[in-house]
Amino acid sequence: MLIRMATEADIPHIKQIRPGIEHERIVHRLEMQAKGEAEFLVVEDQRVLVSFVFLKYAGTLTHPAYPNLEDLVTRPDKRRRGYARALLVDCEKRVKRRGFHKIGLAADPDRADPGRQLYEQLGYQHDGGAAFVDGVYNGVEDWAINMEKEL
Ligand SMILES: CC(C)(COP(=O)(O)OP(=O)(O)OC[C@H]1O[C@@H](n2cnc3c(N)ncnc32)[C@H](O)[C@@H]1OP(=O)(O)O)[C@@H](O)C(=O)NCCC(=O)NCCS
Repeated sequence: MLIRMATEADIPHIKQIRPGIEHERIVHRLEMQAKGEAEFLVVEDQRVLVSFVFLKYAGTLTHPAYPNLEDLVTRPDKRRRGYARALLVDCEKRVKRRGFHKIGLAADPDRADPGRQLYEQLGYQHDGGAAFVDGVYNGVEDWAINMEKEL
């Protein structure tokens, strides 16, 4: 398993893993990465791209003091093999190397959600804030809570 920064050559594979992701969004992430503001990390196993996440060092508008993780996805046919966990552990190391002591992310308020289960298992905790609408996709509100972890 190899964890590395995404390149332009990965774009078609990223779109396969997350159908519907806008091309411009991927390009913007690669641009932020090139400027050192973020890392668009992918997991490759036996030359197949299986998982990705976007790590933003500037955090979010509401939580600008520490880096934020967004859009963690593993290919549906490659789930439950530890790829997302390995990616998160790697992100935490990268964040620490840059001198931060905290990392955050938005998770599903539903405790049974796979992402939420993974985050809790790795020690991420709800920051206590109310759930909020993180976006609207195909007319459906995507509710989230903020979670964070001390590093
Ligand atoms: C959430 C997601 C990224 C997990 O990816 P993954 O590579 O399958 O995760 P891992 O194999 O590293 O799982 C690590 C741990 O997370 C938890 N977990 C992952 N998927 C789970 C599921 N479907 N149900 C319950 N727990 C789950 C388990 O504790 C698991 O450990 P275990 O397999 O030893 O029990 C993947 O399910 C996914 O892409 N989902 C759709 C996108 C999404 O919901 N992203 C998160 C946004 S908040």
